[in-house]
Amino acid sequence: MKGIILAGGLGSRLRPLTKVTNKHLLPIYDKPMIYYPIETLCKAGITDIMLVTGGSSAGDFLRLLGNGRAFGLKDISYTYQEGEGGIADALRLCENFADGERIVVILGDNILEDDITPYVREYERQASGARILLKEVDDPERFGCPQLDGDRIVRIEEKPLVPQSRYAVTGIYMYDLRVFDFCRALKPSARGELEITDINNAYIREGDLYYDILEGWWTDAGQFESLFRANQLVAASRGPVNV
Ligand code: DAU
Repeated sequence: MKGIILAGGLGSRLRPLTKVTNKHLLPIYDKPMIYYPIETLCKAGITDIMLVTGGSSAGDFLRLLGNGRAFGLKDISYTYQEGEGGIADALRLCENFADGERIVVILGDNILEDDITPYVREYERQASGARILLKEVDDPERFGCPQLDGDRIVRIEEKPLVPQSRYAVTGIYMYDLRVFDFCRALKPSARGELEITDINNAYIREGDLYYDILEGWWTDAGQFESLFRANQLVAASRGPVNV
């Protein structure tokens, strides 16, 4: 299993913090944001990783992460996404890297408490298809939101006006090699992006999308409120902080 971290995009929702640097280089408590998805993959034994970045500070990732050995990685590859064409646009750059293997994809601004190893093991036992991780949230309208029928996901809606459940689809996705065929068939959404939700809906149509529900805390860090929350959650997880 190979790992992919998507850290492209322009971080426009965090301007001016992202005017001169990449969102994923901003601090989350005591480490740059990008450390967290790397550590999440590493803990699950995924040590062959591709990082997709973009924007004007791409070279800084190389200076920060080097060859990845300091993180326990076997290998780290880098590629560059032009513009902000969407998560699936960043993902499709990784087809050669995946080279027919299954992949675990994590969004560069997703930070979570859980060790994902058990979910990755479940996916390894799955004959084919995709596996996603859900988390109950107070604001499902900010995310991809699943509609459930019993314990089956029948559809995922991206940022729905009227959410059909209390769950968010988190930015951790496990895919087989069909994901790149689905990427090729995508059309840009109303916001002009190739949406990861359309990929997940393609797997649902094939009857081949499965999920787990995260137990610990999870957050993105792509807006001021969630960036602040991510800092608080990580700080609290390290024990009492004196200010
Ligand atoms: O955090 C989970 C949510 O992430 C999911 O529930 C949504 O279904 C999914 O669409 C996504 O929503 P966001 O609106 O929060 O995505 P955002 O544009 O903030 O991008 C999240 C990360 O994806 C970002 O940190 C880097 C990567 N990305 C994003 C875009 C738009 C890229 O690599 N390239 C891109 O063009």
